[in-house]
Amino acid sequence: MSTGPGAARRRIWIAGGAVALGAGLGVARWVVMRPQPPAGSPLPVDIGGLAPGRLLTVEWKGRAVWILRRTADEVAALAGYESELLDPASAHSLQPESCRNPHRSQRPEVFVAVGQCTHQGCPPQLKSGAGNRSEFLCPCHTSKFDLAGRAFKGGPAPANLVIPDYRFEGDGRVVIGES
Ligand code: FES
Repeated sequence: MSTGPGAARRRIWIAGGAVALGAGLGVARWVVMRPQPPAGSPLPVDIGGLAPGRLLTVEWKGRAVWILRRTADEVAALAGYESELLDPASAHSLQPESCRNPHRSQRPEVFVAVGQCTHQGCPPQLKSGAGNRSEFLCPCHTSKFDLAGRAFKGGPAPANLVIPDYRFEGDGRVVIGES
């Protein structure tokens, strides 16, 4: 059994859901509740069923956070075009130190980022490109980011997408907001 503040908080959410469920049984035959963490608390997200190539969006601290399970080909395609990027080494972008690498992630196949353009905060969209060069395109003013959230030159975005703190719990869960 896991211990520590994170585990304690999860138990509190589950307990809170159970209490609410018990109260609800008086007026309903069955209520399905998914305990939610208090706003701003670390957010555990199950990714065991997230297939390669799929993007999951969750809300954390009022912002969209993406979890993309990149394919092996997409990871391989992240190399070789650094000259097209604004900040290829993420020297002037925001990410945990554990993600200051070419794929900007703790594990190459799992990419976690705040889904807000660094220009004016619009939500970029995942677009398929030629070969494995899919990218995130911001429809507001056409900034483009690769699948590591690195901004391409030529758009108004001044930095790469922000990577939040996160950590893995085994292979099937990511906890957003904890390092
Ligand atoms: S908000 Fe994304 S390019 Fe302007």
